[in-house]
Amino acid sequence: MSSAEASPPRTLGEIGANYKAEEHMDNEEYPTPYYLTNCGAAYLGDSLDLMRYLPSGSVNLIFTSPPFALRRKKEYGNVEASEYVNWFSKFVGEFHRLLTDDGSLVIDIGGSWNKGHPTRSLYHFQLLLELTKTFHLAQEFYWYNPAKLPSPAEWVTVRRIRVKDAVNPIWWLSKTEYPKADNRKVLKSYSDAMQDLLRNGYKAKRRPSGHDISPKFSRDHGGSIPSNLISISNTDSNSFYLQACREAGLSPHPARFPGQLPEFFIRFLTNEGDLVFDPFAGSNVTGEMAERIQRRWLAFEVVEDYLKGSIFRFRQLSMDFGKVV
Ligand SMILES: C[S@@+](CC[C@H](N)C(=O)[O-])C[C@H]1O[C@@H](n2cnc3c(N)ncnc32)[C@H](O)[C@@H]1O
Repeated sequence: MSSAEASPPRTLGEIGANYKAEEHMDNEEYPTPYYLTNCGAAYLGDSLDLMRYLPSGSVNLIFTSPPFALRRKKEYGNVEASEYVNWFSKFVGEFHRLLTDDGSLVIDIGGSWNKGHPTRSLYHFQLLLELTKTFHLAQEFYWYNPAKLPSPAEWVTVRRIRVKDAVNPIWWLSKTEYPKADNRKVLKSYSDAMQDLLRNGYKAKRRPSGHDISPKFSRDHGGSIPSNLISISNTDSNSFYLQACREAGLSPHPARFPGQLPEFFIRFLTNEGDLVFDPFAGSNVTGEMAERIQRRWLAFEVVEDYLKGSIFRFRQLSMDFGKVV
């Protein structure tokens, strides 16, 4: 795909060679990437096998959405809620080893219902408690998807005794209490009211809470600080990725997250040239967004068709930027 010159270290072999000589093996011992782009590499296989080829402290951000413990199984197989924490804990030690000291592990994890009952599983909270034996909880986020369909039908649309579940928790964990993070990189555009205030100046007023607002409030900081509630509709039905999968006779990945989700955390928690890793890459949205904003990336995925389809994302990107990847 891309020419090797000018490319930063992005295969497992290049990262190993570049990072720590004592952990580096001979080149032929490394697995071969499924595909390469200017900034990253995707590998077909089980993350548990592939992660051992990565040197310790080489990854700045792990951003991922693992298979959830869903009541209704997805086609790629999900783990039962009762087994979930055990299954996930096999990955935790490796995630910790791979991260830099100021690195972050960000996990998008949907909630689930108890089979046959209108009550919620606690599996994702149990997972969080398990993870915080190894990591700090830097902050919890929530992704609100206004376009989420009402389910499970039995409780939400038939008996009408529950409302639709449209929020995914996102656990932001870190190795130390001060992971690399800068909210100035993810500022939102100011509201109309704030823009008006910046234009016309601030007229001193007390807030309903009784707080006085200092004149500093009317200074332009380039945007407002986002909150930990991220609202993004997941409505893609006609993207280049979907069209290209259809034309190639490939099933698109059934559980894709929108690109704005990894983009937010990649901007917030990494710098250009840093390494972003998705161990449950699916259709490799994380890799695509990392590539778009010049971070190196690694993607591991166990189902070949998902990786095959994900190549289309980079075709689209080469058209966007007019370059060959
Ligand atoms: C929720 S999906 C990720 C979807 C992805 N975020 C996207 O937007 O396309 C989880 C993925 O993890 C993959 N997976 C499950 N266990 C794995 C493992 N041990 N190693 C690598 N991939 C795995 C599944 O095949 C599935 O595609």
